Formats: sequence, structure tokens, C-alpha cells
Amino acid sequence: MSFESLWADQSAIGRHPETGGYTRGGWTPTEREATHWFLNQCAARGLPVESDSIGNLIAWWDPEDGRGAPSTRSDASSGSSATPGIVTGSHLDSVIDGGAFDGPLGVVSALAAVDRLRAEGFTPSVPIGIGAFVEEEGSRFGMPCLGSRIATGVLSAEKALALKDRAGIGLGEALEKAGIDPERVGPSPLLQKMGTFVELHVEQGRGLTAPVGVASSIWPHGRFRFTFTGEANHAGTTLMEDRHDPMLTYAMTALAANKQARLAGARATFGRLSVEPNGTNAVPSQVTAWLDARAATDDVLQLLLAAITKQATERAERDGTTLEVTPESVSPIVDFPAGLRNRLVNVLDGAPVLPTGAGHDAGVFSAAGIPTAMLFVRNPTGISHSPAEYAEMDDCLAGVDALTAVLQDLAQ
Ligand code: GLV
Ligand code: MN
Ligand code: MN
Ligand code: MN
Repeated sequence: MSFESLWADQSAIGRHPETGGYTRGGWTPTEREATHWFLNQCAARGLPVESDSIGNLIAWWDPEDGRGAPSTRSDASSGSSATPGIVTGSHLDSVIDGGAFDGPLGVVSALAAVDRLRAEGFTPSVPIGIGAFVEEEGSRFGMPCLGSRIATGVLSAEKALALKDRAGIGLGEALEKAGIDPERVGPSPLLQKMGTFVELHVEQGRGLTAPVGVASSIWPHGRFRFTFTGEANHAGTTLMEDRHDPMLTYAMTALAANKQARLAGARATFGRLSVEPNGTNAVPSQVTAWLDARAATDDVLQLLLAAITKQATERAERDGTTLEVTPESVSPIVDFPAGLRNRLVNVLDGAPVLPTGAGHDAGVFSAAGIPTAMLFVRNPTGISHSPAEYAEMDDCLAGVDALTAVLQDLAQ
């Protein structure tokens, strides 16, 4: 099947009829539908699929009859002929009302690139895997790259199973509903079979002006929960000077975050809010706001958080409210290994190299010591995490060409 047909097929799954966006939280019906689509595509190609304890998937193409899926690294070092493979892929989940490309482009391009290599009669020297990793966005359980964090062991099963979604459903219950045994949650043996990982992804800013680029690094990224507590009271009878209004403290904190991020050349976003009791005619008792902060270095990120927290704390004193700041996830900078990156750049005749402020499973795998690289496909408007996210079909096809060439080079 051509990339165009695969893309049309996949991107019809769960598209919102009005916004045109996708809401594919981990283990929700639309995300499961996309996952089943992937499994069906692999079955149609005769590619065996392995799943780990959290539902990350890798489909293996191993043209050597009887070799099957690759052995683990320890098997390989103990003398087995099988070798860890080259895995490419991305994720099928999305943010709330997200775009079509963030995630699925990497999975569909991987299928198309493998189709191309097989049609050309290429014989890889090591197995090639197509990966689809779960809950990359963290849009359901609040933890970005949840699947890869569990797989690599940077997030323990205990901490993962304590996560709840907005409806109060725990991760364990969500897994059970999806037919996955929560008792088994833990580091993934699949990663032992991942000798190299290459993730193709739509670029999420306007930084790439050529059709395809190569990633240099991923900015450090933190998610912090700010809990502002005040006193609920009557909106009509409570004098303005008598209030302890946590919404005011939050509002000033959002302005401070914007200012401090600008001063630091960084990014700060309050994109999620929860208000108690959430009534029009009541001063709120509590506002919980989630800060997403990113910067070019770990130090700048820490200074940014400190500056925002300081201003918020001073404002809380003035408002007679209190503030608690809880880190929910913090990911340090990821510098992709220069040797692999340069190899990709050479294969792609000097493709541009750029950093990204977006998070990716590739960053988690790289931090876990798996040689990892990323390819970006141009995003003409730079809009992402929105139904308006867009890439030209010609650029997507250039991405498939690039991924095909990279796989061929790495597996020759
Ligand atoms: C995920 O794409 C993120 O960067 O938040
Ligand atoms: Mn994303
Ligand atoms: Mn993504
Ligand atoms: Mn991402």
C-alpha cells in the first residue's frame, strides 16, 4: 500500500467531525482503534508483533527464515547469531484535540519505509522493527512518555500504578480494560532487542525550512503542579479587601511565568487548570494549575522555575493564600549521539540539524543508553498539539524517502 493510502486510512481513525482533531489518550477507545489498525497492518505484512508489559509494540521484519524476532542483547553477547535490531516508529496516542501528524506520521512512515525496502528486495543485516509506544503525550495520565519511561525503568511500576486519569480511573484499571495484566507492569525486555532507535516525527515549530532535518537535542522539560489554596466565599457579599482568592494568585503567576520565560529565552505554559468549587458566584477555595516549562539547558530550566515560584509565593503572601509546587515529571536535556546523527546527515546529503523543544520517546530511549536519532519533517506553520497541525504530502513523502535511506544504511 502507498504511503498516501496508509496515511488516509490511519488518519480517519477518531478524527473529530467538527474540530478535525484527535483525542487518543492511552488505552482509550480511539487509541485502541489506532493500535488495532497498526496490528492489522503488521499481520497483513506477516510481521510478528511483540508487546511488553504496558502495551508498547514492536513488529519485526527479519528476512532470514527461521531467525524470528531478534534475541536479547544478553543472548547476542552469549554467542547467539541473532543481533539486536534497528527499530523505527513513534506513537499513535495524541494530546486532547491534537493534530494528525504528531506521532502517527512516524508509525505510518515506518510501515511505508519497510514496504519500500521489501519491494526493492533489500536484505537487512539485522532485523528491522516498527515500534508504536503507548501514552507518549501523557494526555490521559499526566506523565509524558509513560510507555517508554516504564519500559526503560526510569518510572517504577509502583509510581506508574499510582497514576489516575481525570475521571479517577487508575492506570491498573485502564490496563485491565485493555486486556493487559497490571501485575506485570515493569521494565521491558523488548528494549534489549533495540540496538538502535530512529524516530521520524513532524517538526513542531517553524525551525525547519528544508523538507527533512535531523535532531541534535531535546530541551529539558518539566511539568509542575501549582496548588493555590484560599478561602471560598460569597461573590456578592465578600468585600474585595476581605478575600483570600487563589484565582488572583494564579492569574499573577501565569503572567509571571510568561515574563520570566521571555527573559530566559525559555518556554512556560499553564495549559490546564482545575478550580474548586468552580462556581460563578463563589470566590474559589482552590486553584490547581499545571506548569509546563522548557529551556535550552537544565540550569536555565531550574532558574526559570525558581523565578516563577518566587513571584508566585510573594503574591500568595499579599493575597492571604498558600502555594504548594509539586514536580510531576522532570526530563533533563537529551543530546543525541553525534556519531549516529552525523551518519544520518551524511546519508541525507547534509540535511539541516536542529534542536527541539518537544518531548519524544526517542529522548527517553537515548537517555537509557540506546543509540538514538530523530528525523523531522517540515511543519510550514509550526502549529502542533492542535487540529491545525499540518505537513505537506510532498514533505511527508520526502520523510519516507529519508527514513528508507537511513534504514538501508544502518542495516546494510
Ligand atoms: C509532547 O509532544 C510534548 O513535547 O509535550
Ligand atoms: Mn506531542
Ligand atoms: Mn510526538
Ligand atoms: Mn512528543
